[in-house]
Amino acid sequence: MRIRTTDVPLRLNTPAALRRWSLRCHAAGMSVGLVPTMGALHAGHLSLVERALEECDRVVVSIFVNPTQFAPGEDLDRYPRTLEQDLALLATAGAHAAFLPAAGDMFPPEFATAVRVGDGLSDRLEGASRPGHFNGVALVVAKLLVAARPDRAYFGQKDAQQCALVRRLAADLDTGVEIVVCPTVRDSDGLALSSRNAYLTAEERVRARAIPAGLAAAAACFESGERDAAVLTATVRDVLEAAGAAIDYVAVVDPEHFKEVETPGPGCEILVAARMGNTRLIDVLQLG
Ligand code: PAF
Repeated sequence: MRIRTTDVPLRLNTPAALRRWSLRCHAAGMSVGLVPTMGALHAGHLSLVERALEECDRVVVSIFVNPTQFAPGEDLDRYPRTLEQDLALLATAGAHAAFLPAAGDMFPPEFATAVRVGDGLSDRLEGASRPGHFNGVALVVAKLLVAARPDRAYFGQKDAQQCALVRRLAADLDTGVEIVVCPTVRDSDGLALSSRNAYLTAEERVRARAIPAGLAAAAACFESGERDAAVLTATVRDVLEAAGAAIDYVAVVDPEHFKEVETPGPGCEILVAARMGNTRLIDVLQLG
C-alpha cells in the first residue's frame, strides 16, 4: 500500500475504517502495530510509537479519550485534548495512521456489551481507588484490538496494572496479539511523564519529585537486602508525606496477578498512587 506524505498520518475515523486499513496492510503482507492512547501525546507515547515502528511494518496510533474509563466526578471533561499538536508529533515520529473516533462511533446509543477481567485484577489497588475504571479500559482495548487486528500492541509500564489486565484480556480472548510493555519515560528530575502532569502547578510539580524519589529510596533499601514489604512501603510513604502528598496507596505486588506480597523478590513491583493538590499521579518501579 502506498501512503502519500500529505496523508501522514492517515486519519481513520471509524472502527470500520480502521479494520479495512488493517486488513489492507495484512493483505499486503505487512505487520501492524497498535499504540492505544488518549492523546495529549508526550515523549512517553512517542517512545511507544518508536518501538512499534522498529517492530512493525505499519503503525496506527489511536487517540480516544474513552469516557467509559472515567468515573463520575473524575477528569473526563478537563482531560487535555491537543489533537492538532498530537497529529503533528505523529507525523514527525513517522506513524502511518491515526485512529480518531468520536465517542458515538465507539459507543453508539444501542451499545450494550461489557468486558470485565476477573482474578481481582480489576478490583485491587487502582481498581479499588477508581471503581469501574478497568472495566472501561478492558472494553475499549477489546474494541481496539478487534478493529485494528494488530500483531502487537504497545503500552507504557507506568500503568502497570493496566498492562497486567491487558495481557490477561489479550490471552483470554485468544487475540493472538503480542502485548509489548515499554519502559516508563521520565523527566530529568525523575517524574514519570503523564498527560496529567499538565494539571500540576509549578509548586506541585516540584513536590511531585517525591514520587520517583520515594520509589528510588525503597528500591535502594531492597538492593541493600531489605525484603519486608512493610518496610519498603513505609520508606516510600515517609518521602511522600514529607512532600505533602495525599497517599492513595503504596503497595508491593507480583507483576502478573497484582496481589500484594509480604516478602518481595526481584521482579516484584512497588506502586504508588498519590495526589499532589488535585492531581492524582501513579508510578511504579520494578525491584531487583
Ligand atoms: O493508557 C491509556 O492511555 C488508556 O487507558 C488506554 C489504554 C488508551 C485506553 O483508553
